[in-house]
Amino acid sequence: MTDTNVITHDVIVVGAGLAGTWAALAAGREGVTDIGVLSKLHPLRSHSGAAQGGIAAALNNVRPVADTGPRGPLEPIPVGDEPVDSWELHMFDTIKGSDWLGDQDAIEVLVKEAPEIIYEYEHMGCVFSRLPDGRIAQRRFGGHSAPRANYSADYTGHVLLHTIHEQALRHGVKFYPEWYCMDLIIEDNVCRGVVAMDVLTGKLYTMRAKAVMFGTGGYGRAWKITSNATANTGDGVAIAYNAGVPLMDMEFVQFHPTGLYGKGILMSEACRGEGGYLRNGDGDRFMEKYASGLMELAPRDLVSRSEQTEIEEGRGVGDDKQGIYLDMTHLGAEKILSRLPQVRELALEFLGVDIIHEPVPIQPTAHYSMGGIPANADGQVIADGDGTPVVGFYAAGECACVSVHGANRLGTNSLLGASLFGRRAGKSIAKFIKDGAELAPISGDPTQKHEARIQHLMSGPTDKKESVAQIAAELKETMTKNCGVFRTEERLQKALQDIKQLQERFKNARVMDTSRRFNTDLLGAIETEHLLTFSEVIVASGLNRQESRGAHFRTDFAKRDDEKWLKHTMAYKNGDDGPKLGYKSVNIDWEKYPPQERKY
Ligand code: FUM
Repeated sequence: MTDTNVITHDVIVVGAGLAGTWAALAAGREGVTDIGVLSKLHPLRSHSGAAQGGIAAALNNVRPVADTGPRGPLEPIPVGDEPVDSWELHMFDTIKGSDWLGDQDAIEVLVKEAPEIIYEYEHMGCVFSRLPDGRIAQRRFGGHSAPRANYSADYTGHVLLHTIHEQALRHGVKFYPEWYCMDLIIEDNVCRGVVAMDVLTGKLYTMRAKAVMFGTGGYGRAWKITSNATANTGDGVAIAYNAGVPLMDMEFVQFHPTGLYGKGILMSEACRGEGGYLRNGDGDRFMEKYASGLMELAPRDLVSRSEQTEIEEGRGVGDDKQGIYLDMTHLGAEKILSRLPQVRELALEFLGVDIIHEPVPIQPTAHYSMGGIPANADGQVIADGDGTPVVGFYAAGECACVSVHGANRLGTNSLLGASLFGRRAGKSIAKFIKDGAELAPISGDPTQKHEARIQHLMSGPTDKKESVAQIAAELKETMTKNCGVFRTEERLQKALQDIKQLQERFKNARVMDTSRRFNTDLLGAIETEHLLTFSEVIVASGLNRQESRGAHFRTDFAKRDDEKWLKHTMAYKNGDDGPKLGYKSVNIDWEKYPPQERKY
C-alpha cells in the first residue's frame, strides 16, 4: 500500500440510506467524531427514499369506525379513549406475517422501540401527514390488524431520508458520494476496512477503519420486473459472502403485489390501504376467494400468489394477460391527490393511466429481500450458526437479516427496521470504539486484486468476449421464470444450471469502455458479477428448502413443514463450488407465540 491510496477513519459506513445514515448519526451523537459514509449514489438517491406508503408504529392516533369491518373508514381516536393498538398486537402481526420464521426476541425490540423512533423523526422536523388536530396521520397496511402505517402522503421514505441526512450533516459525518465499495477486508475474523473506488476518477483506495457497517440495501435487480432502482444489485451481500461471511435465509424474496404493469415500479400498498380494489380480467374482486377476511389487505406473499393464480388461470389483463387491475376510481380525486400523488404521477408518466378515472394494470414485482447478512439486534454481524460475531463488522437495513421479517415482511416494517436497527448499530459501534477498538493491520495491498480484476475485464480482443449486458439479461430472465412467486424443483434446477453457465461465461466478459473516469460500463460488470454470486445462493437455498413458507412457495411442497423446516438457512461460500448450506434455529417464545396455521 502507498500512502496515496489509503484513507483511514474510525468508522466506515457503506450505504447512505436510512440504515447507514442512522448508524453514522447515532455513532456521531455518542461522541465518535471520525465517520466516513460511502455511497455508490448521491446519498439522497438511496433507495430508502423510494419507499412510499408508511412506517409502522402503534401510535394509536386513529381507529376503525365501529362496525365497518377490516376495510371500513378510520377516525381519529379522541384523546383519553381506549387505545386500539399495542406493541403486542404489532408483534403478533409481524410474527404471523413472517410465517413464524422471524426471531421473536428481535421482533420484540422492533415493535417496542417503534413509537419512540417515530417521535424522534417528528422532533427532527419530519413532514408527516397530519390529522386535523395535528397528530401524525395513520393508515391501514396489509397484514396489520390495526391502522399503524405513519405516513407522509406516498413520499414517506423520501421525507425520512431527507430528515436523517440533514441531521448527519449537522453532526459532521463525512459523505463520500459516488464511491463504490468493492471488497470487505476481514482477516482472522477481524474486520479491518474496505476497498473502494472513487467513481469520478476510477482510482482504488484501501479504507481502513476500526469498525465497518454495511447498510447497502437489497437485490431486486436480479429479476426482470422489480420495484428496485438500478443501483439495487446486492453489492454488500455479495461482497460480505465473498469475504467469508455466511448469508441467511436468502430464498425469501418478497414480490410486492402492485408493481406497475410491464415496468415493476412501485404502486404503493397504500393504494389498497386507502381502499383500492384488485380486479381480474372478468372484473371480479378475486381476493374474496383467497383471503375473505382481509381481502386486498392480506399480506404481500398471499396477495401476490393470488394474483399469479388468476393470471395463470387465464384471468389476467394487459397485452400479454400478465397483469391485474388496481382500481381506485371509487376513491375520488381529492383523496388520491392528497394521499397518493406520487402513485398517480407514476401511473400517468409510465402508462398514461389516470388512476382517478381508470383502473391501472399492475403485476407482482420483486421488491424486498428478507434474507441477507446475519446480524443481531445491535447490528453485530454473525459468522456462524452459533452466533460468533465478526469483530468490527456491523450490518442493518435490507442487506441484513436480523431476522425480524422471517419468510415474509409486512409493509411499513422495512422503514422501521432500517431506521431502528441502523440507530442501534450506530450505538453499539460507538461503544465498541469507546471501549478501545484498534485499527487492525492489513496484509499486503488489497487494492491490487481489484486492479487485476479491472484489467481482466478491460483487456482482450473485442470479438472474443461475452457481453456483460447479455449475461445480466439472461440472469434476470431465468430468475423471473424459474425463481419467482411459484417455484418447483425443476424450475429451480434450471435456474441453478443457467446461473452456473452464466458464471462461466462471465469469466470471458469484457467491458468496452476502457477509461477510468466515471466508467458505468465497468461498474455494471462488477454489479453483474455480484448478481450472479448471490443469485446462486438464493436458488440453492430455495432448492434445499422443501416446503412452502411465506414468500418461498414450492408448488411441489405446497405446505409449511415445521417439523423439518422451522429453521434459518445459513449459506457459506465454498470455493467455486456452490454454497455449503447449514441451518440455525428460530428464536421462538413457545409459551406466547407458538407456530399456528396462517389464515387471513
Ligand atoms: O407499498 C409500499 O408503499 C411499500 C412499503 C414497504 O415496502 O414497506
